[in-house]
Amino acid sequence: MISKFSLTPVLFFLLFSLYGQNQLPIPDTISGTNFELNLQNGTVQFYEGQETTTMGTNGNILGPTLFMNKNDFVNIHVNNNIEDTTTIHWHGMHVSAANDGGPHTTIAPGESWNPKFTVLDKAGTYWYHPHLHEKTNKHVSFGIAGFIVVRDNEEKALSLPRTYGVDDFPLVVQTKDFDENNQIIVPSNSDDVPMVNATINPFLEVPAQMVRFRLLNGSSQRVFNLGLTGNQVFYQIGSDGGLLNKPVAHTRLQMAPGERAEIVIGFSEMKGNSIQLMSYASELSNGIYGAAYPGMGFMMTLIGYNPNPLNGINFKLLEFRVVDSTTNPVILLPETLVNDIPLSENQAKTTRNLVFTPSQMGPNQLNGNFLINGQHFNMDVINFSIPLNNTEIWTIANQSAIAHPFHIHDVQFYVLDRNGLTPPVSEQGRKDVILIHPMETVRFITQFTDFANDSVPYMLHCHMLTHEDKGMMLQFEVVDQTTRIQQMVINNDVVKFYPNPLSSKNSILSVSGIKSELVKYELYDLLGQLSIKGEESIKNNSFQIDVSGIKPGAYLIKIWADNSTYQQKIVVK
Ligand code: C2O
Ligand code: CU
Ligand code: CU
Repeated sequence: MISKFSLTPVLFFLLFSLYGQNQLPIPDTISGTNFELNLQNGTVQFYEGQETTTMGTNGNILGPTLFMNKNDFVNIHVNNNIEDTTTIHWHGMHVSAANDGGPHTTIAPGESWNPKFTVLDKAGTYWYHPHLHEKTNKHVSFGIAGFIVVRDNEEKALSLPRTYGVDDFPLVVQTKDFDENNQIIVPSNSDDVPMVNATINPFLEVPAQMVRFRLLNGSSQRVFNLGLTGNQVFYQIGSDGGLLNKPVAHTRLQMAPGERAEIVIGFSEMKGNSIQLMSYASELSNGIYGAAYPGMGFMMTLIGYNPNPLNGINFKLLEFRVVDSTTNPVILLPETLVNDIPLSENQAKTTRNLVFTPSQMGPNQLNGNFLINGQHFNMDVINFSIPLNNTEIWTIANQSAIAHPFHIHDVQFYVLDRNGLTPPVSEQGRKDVILIHPMETVRFITQFTDFANDSVPYMLHCHMLTHEDKGMMLQFEVVDQTTRIQQMVINNDVVKFYPNPLSSKNSILSVSGIKSELVKYELYDLLGQLSIKGEESIKNNSFQIDVSGIKPGAYLIKIWADNSTYQQKIVVK
């Protein structure tokens, strides 16, 4: 709504109150092990006049909250009735790539998809949303997104509010942009309408006691800086992948797209009063989408995302109206919650480096695409093969002028440091999204314990959906080299490898029978680490590789000749 550009924040609130306040809807629930999700087109009356075309799951917009128990085997039917191909991804959950709902696992219009998996995750707040390449933003912004709440015994044993819709509420915070016919504009850098649970200017009656909120930033780009009026303190009890070890007191909590946080607010002393959940975006540092100047150049602020009336101002998201307490309220929060021990740095076998850059440098960089390691998403290229059970440190350097929320599928990770400094306590739990500021380097550690050799890859990407759709995404597979070597050994009747096994006395491998002038070769160990590589010119159809000094063990040799490639398992004794 372009007319709001010149409004001051005060007028802006007045304008909002003209629409009247709306009771916050709480999504329905589905519990158990069978879930039926119907993706459908819908309409919502956001404004007077024309209805807004939307998309939803089992309804007009958003979708039911799915309650799952850890270790249950769940069976989900996703029926696509939106007249467009899409996918559904279980964001944050540890499932095989084939069940993960990434861009390869498309559901055509009129078709169904039936993922089945064991819930391996800790109690926490996860979410589901479409993930079709180049259309994620559209399908999410039109309204397909829902919560997944995982329960487990560890969480159940704690005295925490957990009665859904009574003292435990899901809140998805988003901003959208509407045209003059009340239709949602995607993509947009003028998302100027804040909403919670797809409701503009909402209020919620809460009991005068400890109340838990499961927050999700479901926006396509915006970072929120959440806080309560009067700087009232609230407690964060969980992050992306479940409970934190201890509640953390906050007056502000920054949340980037894709991130979840569970918080508890104590309303005990506030009966009859109201209090506002705000985004204090005036306090966001520049270089973040949502701050006054989203783009940070070296010497200057960059244009690109600025003409947005919500950037850099404090705005209201939700009003809490405190009413009578319930009969058995939770009065005190436990001092400690869980005892989750992060992976330690010396467990890591591999370090991987990721660098974010703009596709074009200079003052116009925010209007272009962003690359990861100089690459753009390509459905046909697997960017990383990760050995099964590998513990890895990922170093992610943002060399662009805007902060990117990095997200990885399959795993939860632990943040080691931000520019070398220990992260704040609220970021020390299990995470699957982390905001990386301009010119910042973040390191995290994670482990790839399951789901090797799947038929489709996993994604890693920026969770600003505009960036993701434009290709700021790569893919990886988890590979079990032990079984893979067995699978890939080709019975080379032409090419001979001699001797095999090799030994320290006999460390020259002769390869013969190659019809080519030049070959390239690579030798991998069982973890998929490259041990030796080289190029040789061929004489008499053969060449030699000196493997002296190599550790005893099994290796896979790959050879690229003119018209063929060869692989063979080699043993060094
Ligand atoms: Cu929430 Cu790959 O996505
Ligand atoms: Cu995800
Ligand atoms: Cu990005």
